[in-house]
Amino acid sequence: MIEILKAIPFFAELPEDDLKAIMEEVKMEYYPAEHVIFKQGDPGDLMYIIKRGSVQVIRNDEIVAVLSDGKFFGEMALVSDEPRSATIKTVTDVEALTLSKEDFRQLLTTKSSIATLVSYEMIKRVNANS
Ligand code: CMP
Repeated sequence: MIEILKAIPFFAELPEDDLKAIMEEVKMEYYPAEHVIFKQGDPGDLMYIIKRGSVQVIRNDEIVAVLSDGKFFGEMALVSDEPRSATIKTVTDVEALTLSKEDFRQLLTTKSSIATLVSYEMIKRVNANS
């Protein structure tokens, strides 16, 4: 099962023991094409890592990004406690790993490689949205 995590860049640098622990925390979710996973303004409870497929990031009715295999979304609301900054809609069928707010925050606190990767990406996203 941890082969799934090893194939995702987000987790690539972590040792096997960490991957085993994370595997117990993540849930695998499946969404059909054209499905709204959440809407801009919703409260945030989960973050998502795309295993396979692609999603549109829609902000104020405009597509601002398309994210696919290996990319993540939904991190901002969990870090900031702000509402969702964009709507996420699937383009294709999507398989995603999800992490609860609590487990994601724990991961950021304990794994600096993940905290670095997430913060670099968040800065780019916040800048793009401002
Ligand atoms: P969150 O605000 O929780 O929910 C919407 C998500 O869309 C956000 O987290 C990011 O993961 C993602 N997102 C927002 N703006 C952008 C952007 N400009 N480019 C890529 N992804 C974004």
